[in-house]
Amino acid sequence: MKILVPPVSQEIENFKFHFPKISDNLEQDEEYLLLERAGEKEKILFHEYDRIFEIPGLYEKVFYEQLKCQSPKVVVELLEKQVNTAGQTMEDLRVLDLGAGNGMVAEKLVQKNVEIVIGTDIIPEAEKAATRDRPGVYDGYYISDFTDLPEDQEQDFAQFRFNTLITVAALGFGDIPPEAFVGAFNQVEDGGWVAFNIRDKFLKSNDDSGYQEALSTLTEEFFEVKDSKTYVHRYNIHGEPLTYKAFVGTKLKDLN
Ligand SMILES: C[S@@+](CC[C@H](N)C(=O)[O-])C[C@H]1O[C@@H](n2cnc3c(N)ncnc32)[C@H](O)[C@@H]1O
Repeated sequence: MKILVPPVSQEIENFKFHFPKISDNLEQDEEYLLLERAGEKEKILFHEYDRIFEIPGLYEKVFYEQLKCQSPKVVVELLEKQVNTAGQTMEDLRVLDLGAGNGMVAEKLVQKNVEIVIGTDIIPEAEKAATRDRPGVYDGYYISDFTDLPEDQEQDFAQFRFNTLITVAALGFGDIPPEAFVGAFNQVEDGGWVAFNIRDKFLKSNDDSGYQEALSTLTEEFFEVKDSKTYVHRYNIHGEPLTYKAFVGTKLKDLN
């Protein structure tokens, strides 16, 4: 079912934004907003996270308030359900938050009293925004490329003894590639939890993004899916639902 995306400009501090009035359906990585500040208009693509994170409140207003993103809540709750079913509590979790952005997922995890949560992202603007917008939610934050992890980070990560990997709204569309996801997966202890979501179209057999292949390799002998859920991640600028699938399971062993 479609929703009506409010047409009015949103005012945040000294900024206003609105979505373009276009009839063409834009793909998720083509969507953009028009930002007005000091009388100037700027076009910002939704995937230009560095520019979005620079402006306090813009990410939350666009994706969470206007476009009703609910993924951090859905994925964290799906994880919690399985953790509890296994007779554990969220307080037992030492979490690696991959593609952490400005801390929306960590905020939910901290509300559940996880033991630690370490953020990682590929862009420094994300760490800056997390520190500015949600100070204190992370026990550490690293700018990391999991396809080529430096030795000092590898050593730090080993000390955290991660028993959970979570990645929300960060797979696909030129964000985290399958190889980086596998690199982060290998940082988690065997038997640990892995929770993530992905646009449903990347899981179709005719998709060539590599995620469908990576997931079927993982589930062969490296990852046991305990639960999954198909749901509306958010709406696009035309008010149409974007369907994602969330997975929660346990890691069996490293994939090399
Ligand atoms: C849509 S945001 C999601 C942020 C947060 N997880 C949330 O749910 O609000 C996607 C994030 O993935 C990050 N990202 C993109 N490519 C990445 C990569 N290769 N490794 C780590 N993070 C990456 C982006 O910088 C951005 O912060």
